[in-house]
Amino acid sequence: MTAALELHRIGKRFGATEILRGVDLSVERGERHALIGPNGAGKSTLFDLVSGRTRASGGRVVLNGIDISNLPPHAIARHGLARSFQSTSVFAGLSVFDNLRCAVLGSPSARMRDRWLRSRTIDRRADNILDSIGLANRRDDPAASLSYAEQRALDLGIALATDASTLLLDEPTAGMNRAESARALALIRATTEGCTLLIVEHDMEAVFALADRISVLVRGRVIATGTPAQIRANPQVREAYLGDDEVLR
Ligand SMILES: Nc1ncnc2c1ncn2[C@@H]1O[C@H](COP(=O)(O)OP(=O)(O)O)[C@@H](O)[C@H]1O
Ligand SMILES: [Mg+2]
Repeated sequence: MTAALELHRIGKRFGATEILRGVDLSVERGERHALIGPNGAGKSTLFDLVSGRTRASGGRVVLNGIDISNLPPHAIARHGLARSFQSTSVFAGLSVFDNLRCAVLGSPSARMRDRWLRSRTIDRRADNILDSIGLANRRDDPAASLSYAEQRALDLGIALATDASTLLLDEPTAGMNRAESARALALIRATTEGCTLLIVEHDMEAVFALADRISVLVRGRVIATGTPAQIRANPQVREAYLGDDEVLR
């Protein structure tokens, strides 16, 4: 079986600084895979490479068996990949519904004919997503009026609306309190059923509960990949998180 996403010896340099040093990572189809590691380890940079925002200095990115290393972001999206950003990326002036509608319109599954003739299909899909992310009561409000947690839920909805089979979520709960964070993760779990998920998340308790497997990125290298139990018990991982040890208990 081919993996959904495979990274082979990915390197990334910014000037003289080597940020990623030969990252190998494989995410199976339908797997929920968490990427953890200290700040500055290169997690967001890795997401930038996979989504085509920047180019790797070396190595290959393979999505569903297709080499996407040199493709631009829109082509990679067409091959079934969506990402959310560490900071929110909604259109502030548009309503919540219109934000989702735009995302559905841009999805590969909204064929040209649908775009012109069957806008009701698109509206229905936008409304379904609106329900699933729990924002139906905010449908016609401008996105700018949403709370931070609601904006992040909308961000997730926009990623879902693109109909991607593989989702990259970069710190979806950043800046949330514990209750908001727990709600957001429950939402992610429920709405990404059947998708392949690669998620960067700092809340270790949440990561251990959500992920099928975890990879640990430290100083530009994946030092371990395994089940939550394997990662928790891994001495190298424990060392990388020394001083922050209670998160691995
Ligand atoms: N465009 C860039 N130019 C130069 N350095 C960068 C750039 N983007 C990120 N970096 C550096 O790369 C390192 C990894 O950053 P990042 O991928 O954001 O880490 P993480 O998401 O794991 O916290 C950091 O030291 C950061 O300063
Ligand atoms: Mg980051």
